[in-house]
Amino acid sequence: MNRKVVYLTGFMASGKSTIGPILANTVGWNFFDLDKEIEKKENKKIRTIFEENGEKYFRKKETDVLKDLSCNKNLIVALGGGTLVSSENRGIIKESGLLIYLKCSPETAYNRLKHKRDRPILTPNDSENGDENNLRKKINELMQVRIQYYSLADYSFDTEGSNIGQTVDLIARLIQKI
Ligand code: S3P
Repeated sequence: MNRKVVYLTGFMASGKSTIGPILANTVGWNFFDLDKEIEKKENKKIRTIFEENGEKYFRKKETDVLKDLSCNKNLIVALGGGTLVSSENRGIIKESGLLIYLKCSPETAYNRLKHKRDRPILTPNDSENGDENNLRKKINELMQVRIQYYSLADYSFDTEGSNIGQTVDLIARLIQKI
């Protein structure tokens, strides 16, 4: 494969950070999680970066880390759910790798995210995601905007109809074929 990085995209909680390391292990590549790299570089949790520096700053760091990772070879990278919204990021990804979309429905995202507090884009005030209607509305709105970017992926995999092992197996075979 002449494109050297495989990027995993998809909505928050679609399985990017779970599938990524298992996939990397299966194909013998390294794995990087964009959010974790930003946290390491900034020495702060994503929520704290949003609170103290704002989303714009976070997005800038996201692009910086993406640029660094894109220069590597044989790498699986889990993107953040909002990484593809930036056209600069989309350009970097297109130039350097293969983009894989892990699909999940708004309902599944809701169920996986309703007790989480670590997604500041959904709960800016560190509140419990208690207001069911608000959270559903926010997820639907974000999904509607982002689907156009996720759909730009080279390949898509439905993560709901199959278990993690099956999804990893399919993607691993794809990587080995390309
Ligand atoms: C975000 C998704 C998060 C993280 C940040 C913003 C988003 O990543 O980058 O909280 O805008 O959708 P995950 O998709 O890994 O949760």
